Amino acid sequence: MSALPPADRWAGSRLRLERARRSLVGGVSSPFRAKFPVPLYFADAAGSRMIDVDGNQYIDYTLAWGPLILGHKHPALVEALRRQAERPHILGAQHDLEYEVAEKIQQLAPCAERVAFTSSGSEAVQLALRLARAATGRTLVLKFEGHYHGWMDSVLISHHPRAEEIGPLETPQAVPESRGQVPNAVENVLVAPWNRLEIVERLFEQRGREIAAVILEPVLCNSGCLLPQPGYLQGLRQLAHRYGALLIFDEIITGFRMALAGAQGVYGVTPDLATFGKALAGGPPLSAVAGRREIMELISDGAVAFGGTFNGNPISLACARATLGELERDGGAALARANRLGAALMEGIREAARRRGVPLQVSGFGAAFALHFTERSELRDYRDTLADDRAKLAVFLLRALEKGVYALPDGRMYVSAAHTEEDVSLTLTALDTALAETSN
Ligand SMILES: Cc1ncc(COP(=O)(O)O)c(C=O)c1O
Repeated sequence: MSALPPADRWAGSRLRLERARRSLVGGVSSPFRAKFPVPLYFADAAGSRMIDVDGNQYIDYTLAWGPLILGHKHPALVEALRRQAERPHILGAQHDLEYEVAEKIQQLAPCAERVAFTSSGSEAVQLALRLARAATGRTLVLKFEGHYHGWMDSVLISHHPRAEEIGPLETPQAVPESRGQVPNAVENVLVAPWNRLEIVERLFEQRGREIAAVILEPVLCNSGCLLPQPGYLQGLRQLAHRYGALLIFDEIITGFRMALAGAQGVYGVTPDLATFGKALAGGPPLSAVAGRREIMELISDGAVAFGGTFNGNPISLACARATLGELERDGGAALARANRLGAALMEGIREAARRRGVPLQVSGFGAAFALHFTERSELRDYRDTLADDRAKLAVFLLRALEKGVYALPDGRMYVSAAHTEEDVSLTLTALDTALAETSN
């Protein structure tokens, strides 16, 4: 193995990564994780804190890319797992947790007349799209630039296209993003820029009768946490319905994070179908499609095929029941708190940037937000984020990591119910110094 600098605070992680690369492709279990300034190996975690194999401590703002809405090892989840350890781990058959958690989602999510469980967000999106195509008898799907709906061929299109390939604003190119992706996937997808209703309207005028569904992240979390403009989501619903298309909210991130009722509750726009995942079970893999009864029931009469060995597995559902129970407690205090602390962080970071004269935008909602080093005063769509200074962000994130603040490599920060006022204050001090070091 190569010699390491004696003062390398991440020596243990670097050594392990070097070893892992010889067996595990790329050394990581998801290539997104290789994008961190240093892909870290962790020894333990509890609440909002993590400790790596070199003994460095961090305040965790990655939350495992979203699921850990209650933080690490929340007592309610530990207890749920302990109890479930003594019960069947998987049945491939029916058990009480399935309808109990489905009923809970029904109570919480406005669109959820019926629920189906899957394991990952990518899978849930595929089921939602199949249902929409079956219900409408159409094939085309309208998606937005910068929005991520999983890594499958049919949707890994114009997630993060490069500036030179996106085409004009009025008529964006549908850009496939992986070698090996079937090239004709793009034929089934129309792409629009986010937050520009007039362009969507024109696309509907041209091809509205072919469009099965409009799918979107109601808050564009995967490209810098850009909020929808006032009336935009309502406008999309009206347009979709005017042309007989369905509206699908991909709430894999916003679900059980922005509010108990998701973004659909916050914005008062009920989609025909929605996907949930990540925070739903507080950690273990679980996702769901929820939506209008007559669309969802296409599954029960066999018209729409779907399956999955791990669907409705008791371990994930036990954790979902515990997580939703905790989130509901005291009138939803946990999410209110996560969002309040996140809003304080957002404002504190903005204030530090103003004080230091650093051009920085902080966008999003409290429990999920993102930092943009940019001269732009308004960030409306994915194209606006192309002007972000990503080299500066990378330096900033490295400086933040050295000071014990662990954020996602695209500058996103997630706040859980386990974060504290003290975390916020420590983080703001660390980030202020990181900002000073970055702007030098
Ligand atoms: C909005 C959205 N949809 C779908 C997915 C895919 O979920 P998964 O990674 O669980 O397959 C993600 C993952 O980050 C996501 O953010």
